[in-house]
Amino acid sequence: MTRHIITVTVNGTLYTREMDARKLLSDFIREDLGLTGTHLGCEHGQCGTCTILFNGVSMKSCLLLATQADGAKIMTVEGLAKDGVLHPLQESFWEHHGLQCGFCTPGMLMNALYFLTVNPRPTDLEIRRGIAGNLCRCTGYVNIVKAIKAAAEKMAQNKGA
Ligand code: FES
Ligand code: FES
Repeated sequence: MTRHIITVTVNGTLYTREMDARKLLSDFIREDLGLTGTHLGCEHGQCGTCTILFNGVSMKSCLLLATQADGAKIMTVEGLAKDGVLHPLQESFWEHHGLQCGFCTPGMLMNALYFLTVNPRPTDLEIRRGIAGNLCRCTGYVNIVKAIKAAAEKMAQNKGA
């Protein structure tokens, strides 16, 4: 079995770890770093629940090998709240009931975070297209769209403040 050593920054912390060369990035995040907020559904790129930011871009971590993250900067859902204060996206999901069981929520939040950096003032339709790669079996998406729209407004206000 080939072993590899990688150094990766996750949520601002630098980690160096040795692992099997075939390890998925999603398994590395959950098992080696203990960051279990990144969920695993399908493990083949269909559900989006494993979505993280990889060098600032939304990616499905089950489609990457951990060795591909050597030298990368990653953000997981655990990196969203700062000093106990929820990120506007988390706040808005809570206020607008954008979750029920919560299984899809980490991936939904991380994809929405990326989407709002690309399109800070989206329409409902653009939000629906933006989250098309993230499946939710509970909500019917209506409240997720409302939550992302509300978060966009809060984030725009925070920028202007
Ligand atoms: S677990 Fe990665 S897309 Fe479903
Ligand atoms: S809230 Fe249950 S899967 Fe989305």
